[in-house]
Amino acid sequence: MINTLNMKKLSFILVCMLVGIFSNSYANPVTLKSPDGKLELKFDVVNGIPQYSLNREGKPVVKPSKMGFTLEWRDDLAHAFVLKDTKYSSFDETWEPVWGEEAQIRNHYNEMLVTLEQPIGSVESMDHSTEKKATVMQIRFRLYDDGLGFRYEFPIENALVCFWIKEELTEFAMAGDHTAWWIPGDYDTQEFNYTESRLSEIRSLFDISHKDGGWPWKGFSPTGVQTALQMKTDDGLYINIHEAATLDFPTMHLELNDTTMTFRAWLSPDATGYKGRLQAPCTTPWRTVMVTTSATETLASRLILNLNEPCVLDDVSWIHPVKYMGVWWEMISGKSTWAYTDDFPSVKLGITDFEHAKPNGRHGANNANVRRYIDFAAENGFDAILIEGWNIGWEDWYAKQKDFVFDFITPYPDFDLPALNKYAHEKGIRLIMHHESSASTVNYERWMEKAYNLMNRYGYDAVKSGYVGTIIPFAEGHYSQPINNHYHYAIVEAAKHHIMVNAHEAVRPTGLCRTWPNMIGNESAMGTEFQERIKPGHTTILPFTRLQGGPMDYTPGIFETDISKIVSWGGKIRATICNQLGLYVTFYSPLQMAADFPEHYAKFMDAFQFIKDVAVDWDKSLYLEAEPGAYIVTARHPKLSTLNKAAEGVGTLADGKKGVVSNATKFVYALPENATAKDLENAMPHDVWYVGGITDENAREVTVKLDFLKPGIKYEATIYADDKNASGLPEDYNPQAYTITKKDVTSKSVLKLRMAPCGGFAVSLREK
Ligand code: NOJ
Ligand code: CA
Repeated sequence: MINTLNMKKLSFILVCMLVGIFSNSYANPVTLKSPDGKLELKFDVVNGIPQYSLNREGKPVVKPSKMGFTLEWRDDLAHAFVLKDTKYSSFDETWEPVWGEEAQIRNHYNEMLVTLEQPIGSVESMDHSTEKKATVMQIRFRLYDDGLGFRYEFPIENALVCFWIKEELTEFAMAGDHTAWWIPGDYDTQEFNYTESRLSEIRSLFDISHKDGGWPWKGFSPTGVQTALQMKTDDGLYINIHEAATLDFPTMHLELNDTTMTFRAWLSPDATGYKGRLQAPCTTPWRTVMVTTSATETLASRLILNLNEPCVLDDVSWIHPVKYMGVWWEMISGKSTWAYTDDFPSVKLGITDFEHAKPNGRHGANNANVRRYIDFAAENGFDAILIEGWNIGWEDWYAKQKDFVFDFITPYPDFDLPALNKYAHEKGIRLIMHHESSASTVNYERWMEKAYNLMNRYGYDAVKSGYVGTIIPFAEGHYSQPINNHYHYAIVEAAKHHIMVNAHEAVRPTGLCRTWPNMIGNESAMGTEFQERIKPGHTTILPFTRLQGGPMDYTPGIFETDISKIVSWGGKIRATICNQLGLYVTFYSPLQMAADFPEHYAKFMDAFQFIKDVAVDWDKSLYLEAEPGAYIVTARHPKLSTLNKAAEGVGTLADGKKGVVSNATKFVYALPENATAKDLENAMPHDVWYVGGITDENAREVTVKLDFLKPGIKYEATIYADDKNASGLPEDYNPQAYTITKKDVTSKSVLKLRMAPCGGFAVSLREK
């Protein structure tokens, strides 16, 4: 029997349920459809709180989710809103990136701009501004066939002018316990292996995932994850949450409520704990929800680039793709050192005397060794050489939290900067500058102009920068608003000097390379430097996540993957040579490294031929098969206009060798190794495609239909495949077993290719 008390309780519960239902249901939603009509966005203000939801063909992708912010010194942007206005528009344009996965990108969306107000007097503020003016917040939604972007905008006519964010309240309520490929949320590093799990398992797997990464690290919640977050629903929808155009704003992570499966935006705080200081008129970055019905469509999506602004540089003639080698893997593998001497436990720049120090005999960036790399790169048609450890200060750079750690302009005594540049230019090679800031952004900014000027003086047109360690100013994290502003400042200043930038350990990109195409690379994820710690399948996830925001300097091409052959403590990288070859096609980057030593390539020159032949910039890309965490097969068609651009640029230097032809140009134009620009003038390009495949720890057979070739034409296919007994798994380690087969094919041909565990394949196809 139900007694009175229980009746009361029951009615209370019922009332709560009803309030719950009504507070989540839309009374007067405004809606927006994607151009193909399949995605539908609904927006409403429910009890003063803005909310949105997203459906695909009637199925919920994002359930009703709240929007807004909590602020300092005034009432939050989280209640008391009324919807004042709704404006619709459509956009359809095709634009041409300076470099990219295709020559043309279609930007086609329907837009809805809602204007929300907290009316005069409805909220309070310390400066009393809300008593005189309404608070205005607009939300701009753009709905594409492959996803949603929305951002908050704050116009100048507003009670809000300068305001400080405590929390962003944007939610992404998932409709199920999806499978996710995630890395743990962290304020300082993105260098993690991915974990594949159900959303509900994140909490129990967080610690183990978080331990397995770069340094320094700072987590914030046991259900915190980073974006881009790739998910898959049980009925086969691929959902990806990320952000686009993060400028003058902190990076967005996500925190999961694993009871309701609702993510909430978690911004990276600055040193004082605030999560953004804004000044109207201003906008936030775009929050994005990509939705596709196949993994290959996710790889083909250009949602993030499209939500960024067009290129702001008037002259982009100096920007070009780069295929490079480097005095780098020697230090990463432990064979040589960045430091010149072992004499100094403590370095004070300007005081420590390097001229009279005793060389340690293992300094990689010495004149003779750099010349050796230049010779090899020139003989093999590369564009550039990166040299790390060229400048004074490496003796005590790591983990010391030194403000004045490098000056970026003073070479070690055994690195003759002018002579080496001249030597390189005479051979048709550029040197790539290296600026490791050791995360002392204040110090880097002090020296940046001098450092970029030095580069201009000697003909460097690209820099690899780095942000290893604890950020200085102290207590900042790697992804807070002020530090994101530093990374951007470095790009903008570099553009003034016609310098291209590849930043490591900087914030993961959000498509800003569309606007500043001198941002040709970024690391911002676990790359090859993690060696045996990288889990099988890692490279099959990155194109879904990290690469959505822009290219990655993953540094592929390791042929001697057993690092114990280099140093006694080395491990076995879980990859075959063919897996390494496959990465040149499955990963897009206009800056692509052949990371191993010349002497390792010299042993396998037949396989190295693929790295020479492959282009790094494309006019067409086809994603043939893919599944995150398992495999990717991609085909790409080279862009002729950028094929030889890096080589031609060296020819414009005073001491630069004219008429250099890059290795990929030689392949496309079927020119001999010793070809010159004269030969190129008289040659015709052949139609060329490259196909690459990679797999996780499972061997796989894939069938590649060559129906993308021009019909009725014969092509020569060169197939680089794992041998039958090849394996990248340490227990059956046989990563250097491959076969190279040549055969004639047409658009009707079908290739059957087997990938070994942790293996892959590469195919070049050239019209005969
Ligand atoms: C970490 C970078 O990712 C790596 O490429 C570089 O060699 C070292 N820092 C030193 O700058
Ligand atoms: Ca790194």
